Amino acid sequence: MRVTRHIELYATPFEVAEHCAEHFVTAAKAAIDARGRFSVAFAGGATPRLLYEHLAERYQNEIEWEKVFAFWGDERCVPLDHPDSNYRMVRETLLDHVVIPTFHIFPMMTSDDPQRSAVNYEGTLREFFGDAPSTTFDLLLLGMGDDGHTASLFPHTSALQAQQEWVVAHFVDKAKGWRLTLTAPFLNLARQTLVLVTGKTKAERLKEVLSGEYDPNRLPIQRIIPIQGDITWAVDRAAGSALH
Ligand code: 6PG
Repeated sequence: MRVTRHIELYATPFEVAEHCAEHFVTAAKAAIDARGRFSVAFAGGATPRLLYEHLAERYQNEIEWEKVFAFWGDERCVPLDHPDSNYRMVRETLLDHVVIPTFHIFPMMTSDDPQRSAVNYEGTLREFFGDAPSTTFDLLLLGMGDDGHTASLFPHTSALQAQQEWVVAHFVDKAKGWRLTLTAPFLNLARQTLVLVTGKTKAERLKEVLSGEYDPNRLPIQRIIPIQGDITWAVDRAAGSALH
């Protein structure tokens, strides 16, 4: 099936958040209409905060939140109430403000040994999607680091080589800590992928990623090639300033 890549340029990070919220709502309504549920994998880091806050403020009553199922694309191996926790960030900006049943929220449990956490999360995913899904998340949200990483797929790390695993745990020298991450083959099963990139620091790397040579060990986000479904890059003027 043809995969379509869209690049949407907006003036400011807030406009990126507004349009991504519209994508989120449209995807949620379509999934719930079609299958009675909406599964979303949240991105961590700073960029998506505005999106999550906007969803909480503006779309509390526009989505049947009780039919939403929340997952994460990656996690730092810290307690779930730690300031660096992606789970905590999404809970504070969004989940605490909308009515998603607790048993629909699937954080990567970081209290175990990282390898055990990875195995357990893969079990959670298998329980939800089955053992051989042709598609997974209705919407996958991703960010991009200024080194071209996404989720916790960092350049030149062993996590990039995973083919069979859906979730891997690895120590990331650059992040000075253990990370849990969904693997590229599993991420590529999402029905829709939305990548949020804002800020001047991302501009040169984004140009390399989108129009430079294919170098997925150095630029891991280039491994994100959905098997089916669309990928949309939502970019602000600063991050898109080298794309011309
Ligand atoms: C994380 C994220 C990571 C993030 C990029 C961009 O755990 O940090 O999952 O992949 O999306 O590092 O981060 P910023 O949005 O903070 O620039």
